[in-house]
Amino acid sequence: MRRVVAAAAAICAAGGVCAGEGMPPLTSTPGDPERGRAIVIDRETGLCLLCHSGPFPEVTFQGDLAPSLEGVGARLDAAALRLRLVDSRRVNPDTIMPPYHSTDNLNRVGAEWRGKPILSAQQIEDVVAFLATMTEVAQ
Ligand code: HEC
Repeated sequence: MRRVVAAAAAICAAGGVCAGEGMPPLTSTPGDPERGRAIVIDRETGLCLLCHSGPFPEVTFQGDLAPSLEGVGARLDAAALRLRLVDSRRVNPDTIMPPYHSTDNLNRVGAEWRGKPILSAQQIEDVVAFLATMTEVAQ
């Protein structure tokens, strides 16, 4: 497993596009893009906009530590989006993006959160479904 992770990271670091890299759906119920959007803009659940920005007019302060989510659905397919949400460390071992559905190798986790992923499998599917709709970039 470790070896696969390292290989994937090397391919991405060299090229930018991480070909063939992704993760199949976590649930049999398809994600709901509307619920996914709500998670992305929520300041307590997703916290995505602490680091990312995007076309979310209702959110006044957005982050600049990470690429804009605008057009992300055109850059990455659902499997690649899912992998990054579940555990971005599998793409970039030095990432600052939290692993949203992994409980492996986490440091400094408070007792009440230990062993619990940040987002449930269904919430991951909702966010993937929403991000996949974000295929447009404003001119
Ligand atoms: C603490 C900062 C941080 C938070 C919070 C965060 N991300 Fe990220 N994210 C990053 C960084 C930095 C990258 C750039 C790649 C890397 O360094 O891993 C990234 C990359 C991504 C990518 C790939 C973008 C691309 O164009 O290649 C997606 C998709 C993504 N994040 C979605 C999300 C979503 C959805 C959430 C909330 C559920 C979220 N991120 C929360 C920091 C963050």
